Amino acid sequence: MGGVTEAGVMENAEVKSEELFRVAVIGSGNWGSVAAKLIASNTVKQSMFHDEVRMWVFEETLPNGRKLSETINQENENVKYLPGIKLGSNVVADPDLLNSVKEANMLVFVTPHQFVEGICKRLVGNIRPDAEAISLIKGMEVKTEGPCMISKLISEMLSVNCCVLMGANIANEIAVEKFSEATIGYRQDKEAAQRWARLFSTPYFLVSAVPDVEGVELCGTLKNVVAIAAGLVDGLDMGNNTKAAIMRIGLREMKAFSKLLFSSVKDSTFFESCGVADLITTCRM
Ligand SMILES: NC(=O)c1ccc[n+]([C@@H]2O[C@H](COP(=O)([O-])OP(=O)(O)OC[C@H]3O[C@@H](n4cnc5c(N)ncnc54)[C@H](O)[C@@H]3O)[C@@H](O)[C@H]2O)c1
Repeated sequence: MGGVTEAGVMENAEVKSEELFRVAVIGSGNWGSVAAKLIASNTVKQSMFHDEVRMWVFEETLPNGRKLSETINQENENVKYLPGIKLGSNVVADPDLLNSVKEANMLVFVTPHQFVEGICKRLVGNIRPDAEAISLIKGMEVKTEGPCMISKLISEMLSVNCCVLMGANIANEIAVEKFSEATIGYRQDKEAAQRWARLFSTPYFLVSAVPDVEGVELCGTLKNVVAIAAGLVDGLDMGNNTKAAIMRIGLREMKAFSKLLFSSVKDSTFFESCGVADLITTCRM
């Protein structure tokens, strides 16, 4: 039996295996492992997705001499970056980057930002032609010709549509299923954004989508600058009122700076989880 869901996507229990969306998570640190757990809990439940979630692991040898990827597959747990949390038996850790993406048409980028360009260079010509991407990476590349958003880097190097997901998302809290919200930023393809929302949403992880990739991504980057100022206020014991002032003025400056870089950035984005909520959570840490 098939039907159209709220998100407007066909649900069909008889969809052929090769027509299912297949997910690869590129990165397996703290947030990458939690993202894989969230995704894996949905791919087993939703018939549009293939159950298996491939997670590319930057291979490391643990102090006990075992390989990190082997340990993840044996214990279903990332003992180094997310100890004590089971990822879901459908998460497969794979130290081979090209093998991890070869069947996937939904690529989730979640490494520290400085590794993305090198990873994309290796992926050129080695991903499915129908692949689309989402970046959970905070930060930007600053090149001689100016700042370059990570989603732009991914989408230009790989010729793929690239959304972003940002928000007040401390990975360790989501890992133990404490409630969080997140914001997806998309450009034109609303259907793709809804698909990403379905892949990530759980009762404890509420995802909404806004048509403002740059606004969402800049929020995730610039809030860290404001958080440094908030940390200085804490360190100097200047008090809560001063910290609140730093956060309010900081949010206003994030908005002004973002609009200076991209005139398309929307005011309303700063009131989503990626904006004010992420700023609050980061300044409180
Ligand atoms: N941790 C969080 O709570 C959180 C929340 C939201 C967003 N983020 C963002 O997610 C991204 C990933 O952060 P994280 O916390 O998962 O990372 P992390 O700091 O936990 O882990 C670092 C990862 O980088 C890998 N690595 C090391 N050297 C590498 C190399 N040369 N090439 C490729 N990978 C290499 C490590 O194996 C590890 O998987 C960052 O942009 C971060 O800002 C993190």
